[in-house]
Amino acid sequence: QKGSKGDACVNGTKGDKGDWGAEGSPGLNGQPGAKGEKGEMGEKGYCGDSGERGGKGQKGKEGMKGEKGNRGDNGMEGKRGPDGLPGAKGDPGVKGAKGELGPPGLLGPVGPKVTRSAFSAALSKPFPPPNNPIKFDKILYNDQGNYSPVTGKFNCSIPGAYVFSYHITVRGHPAQISLVAWNKKLFKSRETLYGQEIDQASLLVILKLSAGDQVWLEVSKDWNGVYVSPEDDSIFTGFLLYPEEPPGI
Ligand SMILES: *[C@@H]1O[C@H](CO)[C@@H](O)[C@H](O)[C@H]1NC(C)=O
Ligand SMILES: *[C@@H]1O[C@H](CO)[C@@H](O)[C@H](O)[C@H]1NC(C)=O
Repeated sequence: QKGSKGDACVNGTKGDKGDWGAEGSPGLNGQPGAKGEKGEMGEKGYCGDSGERGGKGQKGKEGMKGEKGNRGDNGMEGKRGPDGLPGAKGDPGVKGAKGELGPPGLLGPVGPKVTRSAFSAALSKPFPPPNNPIKFDKILYNDQGNYSPVTGKFNCSIPGAYVFSYHITVRGHPAQISLVAWNKKLFKSRETLYGQEIDQASLLVILKLSAGDQVWLEVSKDWNGVYVSPEDDSIFTGFLLYPEEPPGI
Protein backbone atom coordinates (compact mmCIF):
# COMPACT_ATOMS: atom_id res chain seq x y z
CA GLN A 1 0.00 0.00 0.00
CA LYS A 2 1.11 3.61 -0.81
CA GLY A 3 2.26 5.53 2.18
CA SER A 4 1.64 9.21 3.01
CA LYS A 5 3.62 12.11 1.48
CA GLY A 6 6.55 13.36 3.56
CA ASP A 7 7.34 16.96 4.73
CA ALA A 8 8.96 19.65 2.40
CA CYS A 9 12.51 20.12 3.04
CA VAL A 10 13.25 23.74 4.24
CA ASN A 11 16.55 25.56 4.07
CA GLY A 12 18.34 22.43 4.32
CA THR A 13 20.34 20.55 1.87
CA LYS A 14 18.47 18.08 0.36
CA GLY A 15 18.43 15.31 2.75
CA ASP A 16 18.71 11.81 2.05
CA LYS A 17 15.68 9.92 1.08
CA GLY A 18 13.83 8.83 4.18
CA ASP A 19 13.04 5.26 5.05
CA TRP A 20 9.75 3.73 4.26
CA GLY A 21 7.15 4.62 6.89
CA ALA A 22 5.54 1.96 8.93
CA GLU A 23 2.77 0.03 7.28
CA GLY A 24 -0.53 1.78 7.65
CA SER A 25 -3.58 0.23 9.29
CA PRO A 26 -6.10 -1.48 7.06
CA GLY A 27 -8.77 0.66 5.48
CA LEU A 28 -12.42 0.54 6.23
CA ASN A 29 -14.49 -2.30 4.84
CA GLY A 30 -16.04 -1.60 1.48
CA GLN A 31 -19.80 -1.51 0.73
CA PRO A 32 -21.44 -4.89 0.03
CA GLY A 33 -21.62 -5.67 -3.66
CA ALA A 34 -24.89 -5.76 -5.56
CA LYS A 35 -26.98 -9.07 -5.51
CA GLY A 36 -25.98 -11.36 -8.30
CA GLU A 37 -28.45 -12.64 -10.88
CA LYS A 38 -30.52 -15.81 -10.25
CA GLY A 39 -28.66 -18.84 -11.40
CA GLU A 40 -30.19 -21.26 -13.82
CA MET A 41 -32.51 -24.14 -12.48
CA GLY A 42 -30.64 -27.32 -11.79
CA GLU A 43 -31.74 -30.74 -13.09
CA LYS A 44 -34.48 -32.82 -11.29
CA GLY A 45 -32.99 -35.00 -8.56
CA TYR A 46 -33.45 -38.75 -8.31
CA CYS A 47 -36.42 -40.24 -6.42
CA GLY A 48 -35.49 -41.21 -2.89
CA ASP A 49 -36.01 -44.70 -1.41
CA SER A 50 -39.29 -45.46 0.42
CA GLY A 51 -39.19 -44.77 4.09
CA GLU A 52 -39.84 -47.50 6.60
CA ARG A 53 -43.48 -48.34 7.52
CA GLY A 54 -44.59 -46.40 10.54
CA GLY A 55 -45.87 -48.15 13.70
CA LYS A 56 -49.58 -48.70 14.43
CA GLY A 57 -51.24 -45.53 15.60
CA GLN A 58 -53.30 -45.35 18.82
CA LYS A 59 -56.99 -46.11 18.78
CA GLY A 60 -59.00 -43.02 17.93
CA LYS A 61 -61.87 -41.73 20.06
CA GLU A 62 -65.35 -43.25 19.63
CA GLY A 63 -67.16 -41.56 16.77
CA MET A 64 -70.57 -39.91 17.01
CA LYS A 65 -73.68 -42.03 16.66
CA GLY A 66 -74.58 -42.38 12.97
CA GLU A 67 -77.98 -41.75 11.44
CA LYS A 68 -80.66 -44.44 11.53
CA GLY A 69 -80.13 -46.88 8.66
CA ASN A 70 -82.77 -48.17 6.21
CA ARG A 71 -85.04 -51.04 7.21
CA GLY A 72 -83.32 -54.37 6.55
CA ASP A 73 -84.80 -57.34 4.64
CA ASN A 74 -87.10 -59.78 6.48
CA GLY A 75 -85.19 -62.43 8.42
CA MET A 76 -85.44 -66.21 7.79
CA GLU A 77 -88.28 -68.13 9.35
CA GLY A 78 -87.44 -69.23 12.93
CA LYS A 79 -87.61 -72.77 14.32
CA ARG A 80 -90.89 -74.10 15.61
CA GLY A 81 -91.37 -73.23 19.31
CA PRO A 82 -92.66 -75.64 22.01
CA ASP A 83 -96.39 -76.32 22.08
CA GLY A 84 -98.39 -73.66 23.86
CA LEU A 85 -100.92 -74.24 26.67
CA PRO A 86 -104.39 -75.36 25.60
CA GLY A 87 -106.60 -72.45 24.75
CA ALA A 88 -109.91 -71.65 26.47
CA LYS A 89 -112.97 -73.60 25.49
CA GLY A 90 -114.57 -72.15 22.42
CA ASP A 91 -118.21 -71.25 21.97
CA PRO A 92 -120.53 -74.03 20.81
CA GLY A 93 -120.54 -74.36 17.07
CA VAL A 94 -123.52 -73.81 14.85
CA LYS A 95 -125.87 -76.74 14.67
CA GLY A 96 -125.03 -78.87 11.65
CA ALA A 97 -127.40 -79.85 8.92
CA LYS A 98 -129.48 -82.96 9.36
CA GLY A 99 -127.59 -86.04 8.21
CA GLU A 100 -128.76 -88.56 5.68
CA LEU A 101 -130.87 -91.48 6.65
CA GLY A 102 -128.60 -94.24 7.97
CA PRO A 103 -128.68 -97.89 6.89
CA PRO A 104 -131.22 -100.15 8.52
CA GLY A 105 -130.14 -101.51 11.90
CA LEU A 106 -129.49 -105.14 12.69
CA LEU A 107 -132.27 -107.38 13.76
CA GLY A 108 -132.71 -106.99 17.49
CA PRO A 109 -132.82 -109.86 19.99
CA VAL A 110 -136.05 -111.71 20.48
CA GLY A 111 -138.16 -109.86 22.97
CA PRO A 112 -139.50 -111.43 26.16
CA LYS A 113 -142.39 -113.76 25.63
CA VAL A 114 -145.33 -111.84 26.93
CA THR A 115 -147.74 -114.65 26.19
CA ARG A 116 -146.78 -116.70 29.21
CA SER A 117 -148.46 -116.76 32.58
CA ALA A 118 -148.43 -119.62 35.04
CA PHE A 119 -148.13 -120.25 38.75
CA SER A 120 -148.31 -123.04 41.25
CA ALA A 121 -148.15 -122.53 45.03
CA ALA A 122 -148.61 -124.68 48.13
CA LEU A 123 -149.98 -123.97 51.58
CA SER A 124 -147.58 -124.07 54.53
CA LYS A 125 -150.04 -123.96 57.46
CA PRO A 126 -153.38 -125.75 57.91
CA PHE A 127 -156.77 -124.22 58.60
CA PRO A 128 -156.64 -120.87 56.82
CA PRO A 129 -158.85 -118.03 58.08
CA PRO A 130 -162.32 -118.15 56.48
CA ASN A 131 -163.78 -115.64 54.03
CA ASN A 132 -160.37 -114.43 52.91
CA PRO A 133 -158.15 -115.42 50.01
CA ILE A 134 -156.17 -118.50 51.07
CA LYS A 135 -152.50 -117.54 51.00
CA PHE A 136 -150.64 -120.35 49.29
CA ASP A 137 -147.27 -119.07 50.40
CA LYS A 138 -144.84 -121.77 49.19
CA ILE A 139 -144.16 -120.81 45.58
CA LEU A 140 -143.52 -123.76 43.25
CA TYR A 141 -143.59 -121.68 40.08
CA ASN A 142 -144.37 -118.02 39.49
CA ASP A 143 -141.89 -116.70 36.91
CA GLN A 144 -144.17 -113.97 35.61
CA GLY A 145 -145.20 -112.95 39.11
CA ASN A 146 -148.91 -112.86 38.30
CA TYR A 147 -149.70 -114.70 41.52
CA SER A 148 -149.03 -112.97 44.84
CA PRO A 149 -148.19 -115.20 47.83
CA VAL A 150 -148.80 -112.14 50.03
CA THR A 151 -152.43 -111.67 49.00
CA GLY A 152 -153.15 -115.18 47.70
CA LYS A 153 -154.59 -113.68 44.50
CA PHE A 154 -153.81 -114.35 40.88
CA ASN A 155 -153.96 -111.15 38.80
CA CYS A 156 -154.49 -111.53 35.07
CA SER A 157 -152.19 -109.44 32.84
CA ILE A 158 -152.70 -111.27 29.52
CA PRO A 159 -156.31 -111.59 28.38
CA GLY A 160 -157.15 -115.12 27.41
CA ALA A 161 -158.36 -118.54 28.48
CA TYR A 162 -156.91 -119.76 31.79
CA VAL A 163 -156.90 -123.10 33.52
CA PHE A 164 -157.29 -123.11 37.32
CA SER A 165 -156.90 -126.15 39.43
CA TYR A 166 -156.49 -127.12 43.05
CA HIS A 167 -155.62 -130.21 44.99
CA ILE A 168 -156.52 -129.75 48.65
CA THR A 169 -156.20 -132.10 51.59
CA VAL A 170 -159.05 -132.01 54.11
CA ARG A 171 -158.68 -133.18 57.69
CA GLY A 172 -159.95 -132.29 61.20
CA HIS A 173 -162.82 -130.06 60.13
CA PRO A 174 -165.32 -130.04 57.32
CA ALA A 175 -164.31 -127.85 54.42
CA GLN A 176 -166.05 -125.72 51.93
CA ILE A 177 -163.74 -124.49 49.22
CA SER A 178 -164.70 -121.84 46.72
CA LEU A 179 -162.92 -120.54 43.65
CA VAL A 180 -163.50 -116.80 43.46
CA ALA A 181 -163.40 -114.74 40.25
CA TRP A 182 -164.93 -111.32 39.61
CA ASN A 183 -165.55 -111.26 43.37
CA LYS A 184 -167.98 -114.15 43.12
CA LYS A 185 -167.70 -117.68 44.45
CA LEU A 186 -167.89 -119.37 41.10
CA PHE A 187 -167.17 -122.97 42.00
CA LYS A 188 -167.76 -124.59 45.37
CA SER A 189 -167.12 -127.99 46.84
CA ARG A 190 -167.67 -129.42 50.30
CA GLU A 191 -166.18 -132.17 52.44
CA THR A 192 -167.82 -133.27 55.68
CA LEU A 193 -164.91 -134.90 57.40
CA TYR A 194 -164.24 -135.00 61.12
CA GLY A 195 -161.49 -136.49 63.27
CA GLN A 196 -158.49 -138.15 61.68
CA GLU A 197 -160.06 -138.97 58.36
CA ILE A 198 -158.21 -137.64 55.40
CA ASP A 199 -159.63 -136.77 52.03
CA GLN A 200 -158.85 -134.57 49.07
CA ALA A 201 -160.86 -132.07 47.15
CA SER A 202 -159.96 -131.04 43.62
CA LEU A 203 -161.13 -128.89 40.73
CA LEU A 204 -160.09 -128.00 37.23
CA VAL A 205 -161.84 -125.26 35.25
CA ILE A 206 -161.21 -122.97 32.33
CA LEU A 207 -162.01 -119.28 32.69
CA LYS A 208 -161.82 -116.49 30.17
CA LEU A 209 -160.16 -113.57 31.89
CA SER A 210 -159.48 -109.96 31.01
CA ALA A 211 -156.46 -107.97 32.16
CA GLY A 212 -156.89 -107.09 35.83
CA ASP A 213 -159.29 -109.93 36.64
CA GLN A 214 -158.32 -111.64 39.88
CA VAL A 215 -158.83 -115.25 40.96
CA TRP A 216 -158.31 -116.90 44.36
CA LEU A 217 -159.58 -119.62 46.74
CA GLU A 218 -161.52 -119.18 49.98
CA VAL A 219 -162.90 -121.34 52.78
CA SER A 220 -166.09 -120.64 54.70
CA LYS A 221 -166.64 -120.12 58.41
CA ASP A 222 -166.64 -123.41 60.33
CA TRP A 223 -165.69 -125.10 57.08
CA ASN A 224 -161.99 -124.40 56.94
CA GLY A 225 -160.60 -127.94 57.31
CA VAL A 226 -157.95 -127.36 54.66
CA TYR A 227 -154.95 -129.28 55.86
CA VAL A 228 -151.25 -129.51 55.27
CA SER A 229 -148.50 -131.68 56.76
CA PRO A 230 -145.25 -133.22 55.61
CA GLU A 231 -147.37 -135.98 54.12
CA ASP A 232 -150.24 -133.85 52.82
CA ASP A 233 -150.05 -130.97 50.39
CA SER A 234 -152.60 -128.42 49.37
CA ILE A 235 -151.79 -126.74 46.07
CA PHE A 236 -153.34 -124.00 43.91
CA THR A 237 -152.38 -123.81 40.24
CA GLY A 238 -153.29 -121.63 37.29
CA PHE A 239 -151.92 -120.98 33.81
CA LEU A 240 -152.70 -119.33 30.51
CA LEU A 241 -154.12 -121.91 28.11
CA TYR A 242 -154.00 -119.51 25.18
CA PRO A 243 -154.08 -115.73 24.86
CA GLU A 244 -156.99 -113.88 23.43
CA GLU A 245 -156.41 -113.32 19.74
CA PRO A 246 -155.94 -109.66 18.88
CA PRO A 247 -158.74 -108.24 16.67
CA GLY A 248 -157.97 -108.47 12.96
CA ILE A 249 -156.19 -111.85 13.06
C1 LIG B 1 16.49 29.46 5.34
O1 LIG B 1 17.17 30.17 4.43
C2 LIG B 1 16.38 31.27 4.07
C3 LIG B 1 17.28 31.97 3.06
O2 LIG B 1 18.12 31.62 2.75
C4 LIG B 1 16.42 32.18 5.27
O3 LIG B 1 15.86 33.32 5.03
C5 LIG B 1 15.58 31.39 6.27
O4 LIG B 1 15.62 32.01 7.44
C6 LIG B 1 16.32 30.26 6.51
N1 LIG B 1 15.55 29.48 7.49
C7 LIG B 1 15.73 28.69 8.44
C8 LIG B 1 15.01 28.17 9.38
O5 LIG B 1 16.99 28.93 8.42
C1 LIG C 1 -153.22 -106.58 37.62
O1 LIG C 1 -152.92 -106.62 36.25
C2 LIG C 1 -153.29 -105.43 35.57
C3 LIG C 1 -153.03 -105.66 34.08
O2 LIG C 1 -151.74 -106.14 33.88
C4 LIG C 1 -152.48 -104.29 36.15
O3 LIG C 1 -152.84 -103.09 35.50
C5 LIG C 1 -152.75 -104.18 37.63
O4 LIG C 1 -151.92 -103.19 38.19
C6 LIG C 1 -152.48 -105.49 38.32
N1 LIG C 1 -152.88 -105.39 39.71
C7 LIG C 1 -152.11 -105.84 40.69
C8 LIG C 1 -152.64 -105.69 42.07
O5 LIG C 1 -151.01 -106.35 40.46
